[in-house]
Amino acid sequence: MKNNIIVKEVPIDEAVKVNRNVIEFDGKDTKAEDFERRYQDKDKLIIVAYYENVPIGYIIGYDRDNDGSFYCWMAGVDNNYRRLGALTALMNYQMNWAKKKGYNKLKIRTRNNRREMLSFLVKNGFNFVSVENKEDITENRINLEHDLI
Ligand SMILES: CC(C)(COP(=O)(O)OP(=O)(O)OC[C@H]1O[C@@H](n2cnc3c(N)ncnc32)[C@H](O)[C@@H]1OP(=O)(O)O)[C@@H](O)C(=O)NCCC(=O)NCCS
Repeated sequence: MKNNIIVKEVPIDEAVKVNRNVIEFDGKDTKAEDFERRYQDKDKLIIVAYYENVPIGYIIGYDRDNDGSFYCWMAGVDNNYRRLGALTALMNYQMNWAKKKGYNKLKIRTRNNRREMLSFLVKNGFNFVSVENKEDITENRINLEHDLI
């Protein structure tokens, strides 16, 4: 099953469609313009994972810091299609893509309450860099990174 995932670079509208099916992000109804505002004029990567031609997950990354690193900004998988390897395939694609372009590091920011993502990041060799405290500890932001060299 895990080999049946295909990753493609896509226009933002395709990622917006998948975003609506990520239950944790549901209700925000994020529009293409909201995404575009973040990465406009920056080097960016927008990818979607397909399972049997169904778009089930996405990643949006961009050159946030202009310091040789690439930032994985948004990542989500349709809750009906989890544990099929979509995030794994997307992250591998992004890392290979960023490495080929000469980036030396992949950065990501998540939260205490994103346990699936934290599990993935720990298992896949990301290192913890810092924590930004919030009033609600479950909302603390956690910065991690992975070398690409
Ligand atoms: C995090 C998320 C993207 C994972 O997507 P996914 O396609 O299900 O992930 P994968 O199938 O590639 O899983 C890869 C590994 O991550 C870890 N993982 C994923 N979901 C997990 C869970 N529910 N419990 C424990 N580990 C989990 C496991 O190590 C897993 O490998 P395994 O299946 O061989 O054990 C998905 O759960 C999601 O969209 N969550 C809500 C949105 C979110 O938190 N986004 C991240 C914001 S920073």
